[in-house]
Amino acid sequence: KKRYSVTLLPGDGIGPEVISVAKDVLSLAASLEGIALQFEEMRVGGAAIDADGVPLPEETLSVARQSDAVLLGAIGGYKWDSNVRELKPETGLLKLRAGLGVFANLRPATVLPQLVDSSTLKREVAEGVDIMVVRELTGGIYFGNPRGFGKNDNGEDIGFNTEVYAASEIDRIAHIAFETARKRRGRLCSVDKANVLEASVLWRKRVTNVASEYPDVQLSHMYIDNAAMQLVRDPKQFDTIVTNNIFGDILSDEASMITGSIGMLPSASLGESGPGLFEPIHGSAPDIAGQDKANPLATVLSAAMLLRYGLGEENAAKRIENAVLETLDKGFRTGDIFSTGKVLVGCRRMGEEVLKSVDSQIPTT
Ligand code: NAD
Ligand code: IPM
Ligand code: MN
Repeated sequence: KKRYSVTLLPGDGIGPEVISVAKDVLSLAASLEGIALQFEEMRVGGAAIDADGVPLPEETLSVARQSDAVLLGAIGGYKWDSNVRELKPETGLLKLRAGLGVFANLRPATVLPQLVDSSTLKREVAEGVDIMVVRELTGGIYFGNPRGFGKNDNGEDIGFNTEVYAASEIDRIAHIAFETARKRRGRLCSVDKANVLEASVLWRKRVTNVASEYPDVQLSHMYIDNAAMQLVRDPKQFDTIVTNNIFGDILSDEASMITGSIGMLPSASLGESGPGLFEPIHGSAPDIAGQDKANPLATVLSAAMLLRYGLGEENAAKRIENAVLETLDKGFRTGDIFSTGKVLVGCRRMGEEVLKSVDSQIPTT
């Protein structure tokens, strides 16, 4: 029997609610494939600040590093918003990503036929959209120095950050993006702001260089402002998108709405070696936290990505994805994806329905 260890990081807000659902779905799908998962739950974000005084306790990082994969809910909340940077939940998440070296963040945005009516875009625009955003995750303005607060020459308060990319950081994310595009429809759009930013000029140059190793992939370049517009004008023009940390953050939230809800979108963050980090793209949703209203499907689908990309367990991943589709087919909807004629359910009930679907699938082993 195959055994893996999975670190669970529920975090804050709706994090614990969606992780609880995803954990049950993950264990059932794995066990039906003859896989034993050993879970270890650790603190991160605001929960860790309150209990341990820091957003990423050393023990959390070391347990995560030693495990086979990490599943995170979400971090953050009003309570910690005015903390200094070192004591913000978001800093814990950034340190976790950096500490695991997970520089490649895959954020698929797929419009499921069941949810076309939940999209804010017209049916003919949304139907069939299938985009993979490859976001650079451990560099750029999130991590660049110098950064901080200070005074300008007029004695006025300033805040400043630095967008910086080394050639090697661009090359490695470009390779992941070309490999990804190659396995999809063979088209890669690199998004930057090379008309204004030096970091983007280098980005475009390096991506263009790497392209020569992938003659089967068709590369195009687009400025971020145009890309944001094109994404809602005609999202079907995109196959794979590769972009920097901050543009990828923004574009993936925008792309999520095409699919119906940010509550549906999973992600996988991978490095050169070591465990991957799997998390929904949404945050801790403090406005609905503790009310059993959160859509757990982004986290459930992140668990499927954990099985596929983190553990190489394709069959178990498919079980989860099929169960999600079946649950949607039966008409179950959380509030964020609800439309008339469907069955409105909460987070826990949605989880129970997915579990039933996983359970009723024909065994493959
Ligand atoms: P958010 O993603 O938490 O919420 C944005 C909106 O989407 C809210 O109205 C929320 O209710 C809704 N929403 C999000 N996830 C949902 C789900 N699963 N089901 C139903 N509705 C959902 O973004 P925000 O409000 O800008 O940020 C809130 C906090 O989360 C902040 O502290 C932020 O820093 C943090 N955050 C964390 C992560 C992460 O942990 N990876 C990601 C984004 C934001
Ligand atoms: C995300 C979030 C994070 C990011 C924040 C919470 C640091 O928005 O995972 O998309 O910007 O990467
Ligand atoms: Mn984000």
